[in-house]
Amino acid sequence: MPSSDISGFHRMDLRKRVEIVKKFANLTLQEARLLKHNSALGLKTADMMIENVIGTTQVPIGIATNFLINGSDYLIPMALEEPSVVAAASNAAKLARKKGGFTTLSDPPIMIGQIQIVGLKGRSYKHARKHILKNKQKLMRITNKVDSTLVKLGGGVKDLEARIIKTSRGKMLIVHIIVDVRDAMGANAVNTMVEHIAPYLERLTGGETRLKIISNLATYRLARAKAVWPSEELGDDVIEGILDAYAFAAADRYRCATHNKGVMNGVDAVAIATGNDFRALEAAAHCYASADGYKPLTKYERNEDGDLIGTIEIPITVGLVGGATKTHPIARTVVKILGVKTAQELAEVMASVGLANNFAALRAMIKEGIQHGHMKLHAKNIAVIAGAKGKLIDRIAKKIVAEKSVNVARAKELMERFRRRK
Ligand code: MEV
Repeated sequence: MPSSDISGFHRMDLRKRVEIVKKFANLTLQEARLLKHNSALGLKTADMMIENVIGTTQVPIGIATNFLINGSDYLIPMALEEPSVVAAASNAAKLARKKGGFTTLSDPPIMIGQIQIVGLKGRSYKHARKHILKNKQKLMRITNKVDSTLVKLGGGVKDLEARIIKTSRGKMLIVHIIVDVRDAMGANAVNTMVEHIAPYLERLTGGETRLKIISNLATYRLARAKAVWPSEELGDDVIEGILDAYAFAAADRYRCATHNKGVMNGVDAVAIATGNDFRALEAAAHCYASADGYKPLTKYERNEDGDLIGTIEIPITVGLVGGATKTHPIARTVVKILGVKTAQELAEVMASVGLANNFAALRAMIKEGIQHGHMKLHAKNIAVIAGAKGKLIDRIAKKIVAEKSVNVARAKELMERFRRRK
């Protein structure tokens, strides 16, 4: 059994790394070549983005159409591996257009940085907290010196909070710096700031700082979107079904996790296409949804005309500057297609897409079931695997979906039949 303890792997060039992985995993020549294949994200750029690079991977980017947000039209690039999500977003947006599309509202791009202070050595935590708050302006000034560019752009530290928490290891003093990160996601700016201010806090309190890190629970950076889906388009049964589905999610966390997954299908797909950190978004969204028991990120109700109103409120921590959004060539092009000018505008678009996908999933489940849409694309793949080409792909796919026999064996049988008829 070969060892995974490979000294200096990070210093090797990419070819050498692939060579080692090839031996380790018994890859064929073709498999190793696939890894080294240059994509739009060139291997050289990739090698500078993360460590120990041996290749790049790709997922499809689809364009969701029909989005009207605050009166402007958007084409939405979505990167993901799951069929139906792009079509679902486009359909939901089309239906919402009839009542004006999506309207949004969002907070400025404010992130929280945390500094954990422990070991006050007999001093009172209350006193230390008071002392920090008394020196708030000075501490904010010191922290803002770290990133003068951000301050010039209108960002920087806007406030400072301090809380005492009780933990299994005793009391701790937690300081929050509240930072406007402008068009960045903010992790770099905030993490630099909290590390910079920590020694000053130690001197002020006589305690020791432990963690100094951004919080992903961005409660000051919420994006909200709303859409109205007309009753004459949906029909009474579908609206009642969606309201029941929403009530189910609100009352049951097993269902709620899947309900919110439907929201994140849209949010993450735009995040990945734009080179943003989707793990940060996931952490924020689910923690935010758990503020008062785990709850849906969206809400549904009927208006006086009987239409369905959907709303979403979700922390969206994305940037347009820094990180992969700038280094990844596809991400740069995606941002151009989206046409968003600020991180806040991007956040509002993403909230709208999340709402659209959630609505579309509920509607599909109430109407024909979710597998119907999934199966249509899956069937095309099956037809291709069975050897179909050109128009035959669609014909076979349609037939196996109608027969509810989406499998390669049946697709091959049909292929044979079509061949014999020819
Ligand atoms: C699948 O990716 C997403 C759904 O499960 C969401 C939902 O159940 O609401 C269809």
